[in-house]
Amino acid sequence: VKYNVIVLAAGQGKRMNAGKNKQFIELLNEPLIIHTLKKFIKDSWCQNIYLVINPNEQEQMEELIVSYQWQDQIIFVHGGRERQESGYQGLLAINEEQQDMIVMIHDGARPFVEESQLHELAQAAKGKKAALLAVPVTDTIKRKNGDKIETLDRSTLWAAQTPQAFNYPLIKKAHEQAIASEYLGTDDVSLVEALGEPVDIVQGTYQNVKLTTQEDIVRAEMILERQEEK
Ligand code: CTP
Ligand code: MG
Repeated sequence: VKYNVIVLAAGQGKRMNAGKNKQFIELLNEPLIIHTLKKFIKDSWCQNIYLVINPNEQEQMEELIVSYQWQDQIIFVHGGRERQESGYQGLLAINEEQQDMIVMIHDGARPFVEESQLHELAQAAKGKKAALLAVPVTDTIKRKNGDKIETLDRSTLWAAQTPQAFNYPLIKKAHEQAIASEYLGTDDVSLVEALGEPVDIVQGTYQNVKLTTQEDIVRAEMILERQEEK
């Protein structure tokens, strides 16, 4: 199954507090975004990578990509203020001949996704038109409403990850509907849910975390060391 991927890297990384976009933080001597991109560069199913960036960081990103000689596989796209806008800009950058292929949307800050998961996800999206990687929630989750607290049924709860994979016309329509109704979701699948369309969950691994705060860095280096041994 061939697919294109939109990698989102246009955020600011405020919660990481690194004084720069967290995509440039080095893990085992390579920037975070490089670790993430490498997963797709290596995957023969992946056709093109649309890297969504902050225009102010274009020069820095381009230099980095050229130093890996990946410039022929990566197309730069300017992102927006919100993650959702950045994803939509990525979708608009995909030209017509590419639109019959599955498109994945992935967080640049999630470097641990494995090829077997990418393939399972691509296959699921081919069948169901929308699919995401997710893991069963391990915490007990409470909903607080004023003084009232209730416990949600954990057996039905999943923690959403990326990549999320779609039939192109479906995710494009979902984004356009979200814009029209001024809905801002925290992931792309939620926009498809809003259309009432079915979505497939592919069970991922607990390792596929997003790097958000400083505490994530030490753990990240441990996971990378283990992956690089394989
Ligand atoms: N992202 C993006 N465009 C935005 C906001 C986020 O492309 N306007 C990307 C980030 O670069 C990141 C992914 O979406 O790879 C997930 O977002 P998040 O973890 O929230 O990253 P940041 O927004 O950069 O971090 P923070 O929220 O702490 O500022
Ligand atoms: Mg953010």
